[in-house]
Amino acid sequence: MKALEVKNLTVKIAGKVIIENVSFDVVEGEILGIVGPNGGGKTSLIRAILGFLDYTGEVRIFGFTPSEAKKKGLTGYLPQKSLYDPDFPVKVRDLVAFGMMKSWFGKLPSNWKEKVRSYLSMVNMEKWENYPFGKLSGGQQQRVSIARVLAGEPKIVFLDEPNTGIDVVAQEDFYQLLMKINKELGVTIVMVSHDIGVISSYIHKTACLNRVLHYHGEPVCITDPELLRRVYGSGADMILIHDENCENCGSVNVKGEERK
Ligand SMILES: Nc1ncnc2c1ncn2[C@@H]1O[C@H](COP(=O)(O)OP(=O)(O)OP(=O)(O)O)[C@@H](O)[C@H]1O
Ligand SMILES: [Mg+2]
Repeated sequence: MKALEVKNLTVKIAGKVIIENVSFDVVEGEILGIVGPNGGGKTSLIRAILGFLDYTGEVRIFGFTPSEAKKKGLTGYLPQKSLYDPDFPVKVRDLVAFGMMKSWFGKLPSNWKEKVRSYLSMVNMEKWENYPFGKLSGGQQQRVSIARVLAGEPKIVFLDEPNTGIDVVAQEDFYQLLMKINKELGVTIVMVSHDIGVISSYIHKTACLNRVLHYHGEPVCITDPELLRRVYGSGADMILIHDENCENCGSVNVKGEERK
């Protein structure tokens, strides 16, 4: 089953083409990592897919249009910039509960406290349920925000740079969490990241976007200097997109472990 189909998607903002003729599919259960330079259109692509930006072309989410998919609660979205004012006094528990409501006037299920606890425990934040959200660290806020997205029980989630603010040690945990969400809850994940080397070992497919889609497929080693230059411009020689078994990457894999 296709979770997402994007066909000939073009987005123009103020007369400027931001995304041009992009087509790709995401199969249900897949994790897609979107990479590309700053200003390449990654956030705009997600916002167009979710129906927040005008576009031409076609988008189908489990066969539905963006607005139908949203109404059915199929999609979850973690934006690049937090939606919350850090000074707004909201408890962690209430913020996650908010994720369960389909609308401002929606009702919470009677077992909402248990449900909130289960989503918070999934992201290892259950001890913080009564804590003010604004007083958490950036990485903790990010985890709670993911719990809020999960509380909506989406079938596909769009995470825009979800690892921002998470320290190097916690990154590995964070990717394990994404894999758990993918495997245990069966959620399809579309994730934007700048961490191209690292994410390659956790994702099923990569999309390289810089206005046009330069590559979509297995997270293979892209050593072709031409392709890298097309995606990232000059300075691209610093970048390699590789998987764990890449033969071009020497004797250690992307995690720095010795190859067998
Ligand atoms: N509301 C807007 N008005 C005008 N231009 C915009 C608007 N939103 C995005 N753009 C432009 O569209 C282009 C793509 O922006 P976008 O935020 O999608 O890039 P990105 O790949 O997510 O970048 P980053 O890695 O920095 O997050 C940029 O040139 C940006 O200036
Ligand atoms: Mg962005």
